[in-house]
Amino acid sequence: MSYLETTHNVYKEAALTPDVGLCCTTNPIWELPGLKIPKIMQEMNYGCGSTVHARDLTNNPKMLYVGVGGGMELLQFAYFNRQKSGVIGIDVVDEMLEASRKNFIEAEVLNPWFKSDFIDLKKGDAMNLPVEDNSIDVAAQNCLFNIFKADDLKQAIAEMYRVLKPHGKLVMSDPTCEQEMNDTLRNDERLRALCLSGSLPIADYVKALTDAGFGTIEIRARKPYRILDPKHYPTSELIYIESIEVAAIKDPMPNDGPCIFTGKAAIYYGENDYFDDKKGHVLLKNQPLAICDKTAGALASLNRDDIFISESTYHYDGGGCC
Ligand SMILES: C[S@@+](CC[C@H](N)C(=O)[O-])C[C@H]1O[C@@H](n2cnc3c(N)ncnc32)[C@H](O)[C@@H]1O
Repeated sequence: MSYLETTHNVYKEAALTPDVGLCCTTNPIWELPGLKIPKIMQEMNYGCGSTVHARDLTNNPKMLYVGVGGGMELLQFAYFNRQKSGVIGIDVVDEMLEASRKNFIEAEVLNPWFKSDFIDLKKGDAMNLPVEDNSIDVAAQNCLFNIFKADDLKQAIAEMYRVLKPHGKLVMSDPTCEQEMNDTLRNDERLRALCLSGSLPIADYVKALTDAGFGTIEIRARKPYRILDPKHYPTSELIYIESIEVAAIKDPMPNDGPCIFTGKAAIYYGENDYFDDKKGHVLLKNQPLAICDKTAGALASLNRDDIFISESTYHYDGGGCC
């Protein structure tokens, strides 16, 4: 059996018998005014963070969600645009599509503003999306792409890139791991399907996105996720897994490389009112400016004693330099 078939079986099972501990997240289940999340959707929350960020969702964006799970994030997305077929939901597992369809009917009862036809559920594969080119404003996936091996990941990201409009956003949450994982873990199809042994270091994850052509990357959050310990998993050392929330924006690739925001800021504290690097970055005195890693490197290379550059906080929510 291939790892994709194992993944299919794991999620067929998780659709038929909800598993509260699967792909757990420390995120509280947030609700908005007038938004009620059915209990079954909460039990079927198989994500590892949130892909729903209000700032991405102004002006009724056309949305795509790949790997629907119990449908919780699709309901949250629908809250923002409330239009027939405003959110396309795609999953390769029939039983998961069926379960989410039922959950949306429960959501209609709890949420008078919601109609199931706000969500257009389609059977499809992340590697071959049944969606037109350049048709989506905001695409999302939560805790699916980490399962994919390198070639499949490349294909899945290329598909998201294809369907997004220019300047459209791919918003994601996935586990990441900075430690080396041994081959036994890497090749364990079930652990991979459970989002435990496929994760990449953040730099490799970001490179997969910029290699596909995304010109701007935002790392919005980085959180503790799981431990693989030698008593319970085939590893001789403790492995610490985190999860990140990332947006990849289909901006043109700048000539000098992608803008990757990891939560750094620059603060000018010199004698003048501001510092202008003549490359589009003006630092007002004593006011932090969020900067991408490329700008951080360029400012650091000036070796000035009146500009402070912070470490990456891995928390970025806009307002940056580029
Ligand atoms: C870890 S779950 C995450 C579910 C949901 N995103 C959430 O946050 O609760 C992975 C989801 O991806 C679906 N899936 C697995 N392989 C897929 C593929 N190749 N293409 C599309 N969906 C897939 C599964 O059926 C499941 O719904």
